[in-house]
Amino acid sequence: MTEVKPATIVLDGQEVAIEEGETLLELAARRGVEIPTLCHDPRLVPAGACRTCLVEIEGWRRLAPSCTTVAADGMVVRSANERIERHRKTLMALYLTDHPAPGEIAPHIVDGSEVHRMAVECGAPDDWPRMAPIRVGREDHNAFIQFEPERCILCARCVRYCAEVEAVSAITLADRGSRTTIATADDLSLMEASCELCGGCIDVCPTDALTEKLALALPAPIPDKLERVRTTCNYCGVGCQMDLEVEREANEGRGRVRRVLSPPAGTTTNDGNLCVKGRFAYQFIEHEDRLTKPMVRREDGLLHETSWAEALETAARGLLGVKARHGSDALGFVSSSRCTGEENYLMQKLARAAFGTNNCHQCAAT
Ligand code: SF4
Ligand code: SF4
Ligand code: FES
Repeated sequence: MTEVKPATIVLDGQEVAIEEGETLLELAARRGVEIPTLCHDPRLVPAGACRTCLVEIEGWRRLAPSCTTVAADGMVVRSANERIERHRKTLMALYLTDHPAPGEIAPHIVDGSEVHRMAVECGAPDDWPRMAPIRVGREDHNAFIQFEPERCILCARCVRYCAEVEAVSAITLADRGSRTTIATADDLSLMEASCELCGGCIDVCPTDALTEKLALALPAPIPDKLERVRTTCNYCGVGCQMDLEVEREANEGRGRVRRVLSPPAGTTTNDGNLCVKGRFAYQFIEHEDRLTKPMVRREDGLLHETSWAEALETAARGLLGVKARHGSDALGFVSSSRCTGEENYLMQKLARAAFGTNNCHQCAAT
């Protein structure tokens, strides 16, 4: 019996076995070879739109996008050489001709967009004549998402994310030629379109053409560096991971959340996704109605600040009084999905062990 030789390619001089159906980009990543990308997202069907990931394949006249080219037996591929470098420099310089400079971008984005960082990394010339932007935006009355078409490079990552991950298709590529842009059907506001305001399109946009309005509305000045803090969303029981961008020095040293991002796809269980609450409903942190100190209602009928000892004793006395007069099941304990799992566990323990009732609930039902 003749042995079947496994399909292989030669990548940068090394022979590599092919896994069925994988693209050159996936194969390179498996081998630890990094190829820059802008329109690629592992969650989405590859589009080959940005031309950043081009590689050279022996015998092919043109450079080929590694994100859409499936590896085939016998290919000889180079991921980097002088020709690819020249192509990438020119491409980035072209992108930047009608793209705002990092300082002109949304002020809360302090380190420039992915496209800026990539242009710097590949040494793209930054002295090319600038063109006036052809596409200009219009104000959308939704409270959360801002779109600046002059920054958009039409990579369609947002459109594909909205359709393939969110399964909503609220936005699409509209118009033709140099006027092509991102829009909703009938040019409706995102509030009237099928948009769920998940903000995922902001996370995937490599140019910051899509940004958060809330972050823009916060008072200046923006510090040079925002601290990024990984935390768990406490709105429901799913427990999505999120990255808070925090301005440490604001609010008399208590810090201020500037915006909420989803960690990159593939790194946490929520796979780069958040819902509208997790992403945008963080103003409660600083809301003036938020209770930050223990209070008890005194004889004048008003709430007064007090010590924890007095507040807990007053609550215990009141609860025991109800139990004595009406029995344990006259009591009910409602906790919050904003609490941690441990806090909710303690609340049900208190209800069952200390007061003898199973009447306990919180909206995430964890
Ligand atoms: S916010 Fe979410 S649903 Fe709305 S357009 Fe963006 S990705 Fe689609
Ligand atoms: S808005 Fe951003 S993600 Fe969408 S097409 Fe433009 S550059 Fe790409
Ligand atoms: S990442 Fe391959 S063409 Fe955009």
